[in-house]
Amino acid sequence: MQYFLGIESTAHTFGVSVVSTSGAKPTVKNTKVESNEIAKFPSTKEGYIPRKLADHHVKQFPLLLEAALKKAKIKAKDLDAIAFSQGPGIGHCLHVGYVAAKTLSEELRVPLIPVNHAVAHVESSRFLTEAKDPLVVYVSGGNTQIFSRLGKHYHVYGETMDVGLGNFLDNVGRVLKLDPPDAVGVLKAAVQGKNFVDLPYTIKGMNLAFSGILTSIQRLKSFSVPDLCWSAQETVFSMLVEATERCLCHTRNPEILLCGGNARNRRLQQMMALMAEEQGARFCVAADEFNGDNAAMIALTGLLMFRHGALPRRETPLQRMRVETQEISW
Ligand code: FE2
Repeated sequence: MQYFLGIESTAHTFGVSVVSTSGAKPTVKNTKVESNEIAKFPSTKEGYIPRKLADHHVKQFPLLLEAALKKAKIKAKDLDAIAFSQGPGIGHCLHVGYVAAKTLSEELRVPLIPVNHAVAHVESSRFLTEAKDPLVVYVSGGNTQIFSRLGKHYHVYGETMDVGLGNFLDNVGRVLKLDPPDAVGVLKAAVQGKNFVDLPYTIKGMNLAFSGILTSIQRLKSFSVPDLCWSAQETVFSMLVEATERCLCHTRNPEILLCGGNARNRRLQQMMALMAEEQGARFCVAADEFNGDNAAMIALTGLLMFRHGALPRRETPLQRMRVETQEISW
């Protein structure tokens, strides 16, 4: 049995996870997420301050490491490799994860595996849902991208031209002073929405733009907050499903894989699944636990990279990284 530790620290969430595997080729059957501990810095009206996030992560590291090892019923000396989020993310936060991972790997004399956080969202979901060759819809705070594999790399067909879907919904939550002031607040309010409000619907080719919707919401004072939240969600999800469907008609991937923090939204899942069914593609989405930022996705992807000798030359954090740069050799 081999044990891989994962450390996640790209933004507001710090996480530590232990993944075990007993096979030469990792599969869902011979690989187990033993623990997946997370601590999230609460969302605030003024957004996130990098220094405060880093302080939070520094405090959480020893607590979560202890909890993750205890749940996995192992000691630190049993670990075979340490994987961590190299980027993309907030510099202050990334450095906490890097220093924690580097210190552990030096002390235990085990390999250090730098993992691209975006690739981890995709590859852990692909591994867990056993999707073979999916058209990926990656939706999180800072990202909204539609892509699939071409050879050993991902090729991005469409993406946001301004903010990511998650950050857009967080901004709606802040502008409308919701509780909590983020995407969760929007989701809670949207359930009560009854009347659809026309909002800008911007698709350029396969790319999407969300900022105009936020500007409109700030001006439309005569509509109720639930109606605005429901309409904003319906509009952006429709845009995303339309671009994905158009893309699928060209690529004909056998599966659609929805991943990233906003993949947990049931309405988005429902809309994407309906379109997938109409197009004859299998709809795949991992459990909620693995779609929000978490460390199991880092440990799982680190395991795949390590087993396939796909380790990057550079190990220090990178604030900007894209999915296309990672060679997927598995
Ligand atoms: Fe993420």
